[in-house]
Amino acid sequence: MSKSIVILSGSPRKRATTDRLVQAFTEGAESAGAGVRCFRVADMKIGGCLGCGHCFEEQGVCVQKDDMRSILDALRGADAITFASPVYYFGFTAQLKLAIDRTYALLKEGMPIKRAALLMTCGASSAEAAASSISMFRQISALQKWEEAGIVIVPGLHKPGEIEGRGELEKARELGKCL
Ligand SMILES: Cc1cc2nc3c(=O)[nH]c(=O)nc-3n(C[C@H](O)[C@H](O)[C@H](O)COP(=O)(O)O)c2cc1C
Repeated sequence: MSKSIVILSGSPRKRATTDRLVQAFTEGAESAGAGVRCFRVADMKIGGCLGCGHCFEEQGVCVQKDDMRSILDALRGADAITFASPVYYFGFTAQLKLAIDRTYALLKEGMPIKRAALLMTCGASSAEAAASSISMFRQISALQKWEEAGIVIVPGLHKPGEIEGRGELEKARELGKCL
């Protein structure tokens, strides 16, 4: 059976640098035979976790009936997960963080996911701008017992087309192949 990868992609800007990085990663994954489902979480109606604990009492069922349901369904059948985001004030976009918080609904029952990857873009000239996000990604992966498959950070990006020709696109493609 082919591998199932879920991408949670947090850029609100369509067809810009993060989407392009995700595209390269997806091309690599699909060329290796994986099935990829990408959720552009900024286009979805996803509320913040209420911390009510209902999901822990009711087998992972969240009280909020919003678009997060399709993501939770996909995660229940995924072998691997990829987070993608631009750096916004040293972290993930708020839209991605909302979706990550809502995966709390599956924390008790667990997910079949074994491996995780991170794709990020940022405006700063150094990938150091993504340090807090990498730290969060690693702590989430440790908590969930996901093996870190790889991280690709692309610094120095502001306008959508600026990522074209960058070597990190090939790195993302290779990461997609081996995830
Ligand atoms: C609200 C906002 C906050 C940002 N904060 C940072 C930051 O803290 N560090 C950084 O290097 N770039 C920052 N950037 C720049 C973006 O990370 C960068 O331009 C990225 O490539 C945008 O991704 P996109 O093309 O998918 O929109 C910020 C951009 C925005 C709009």
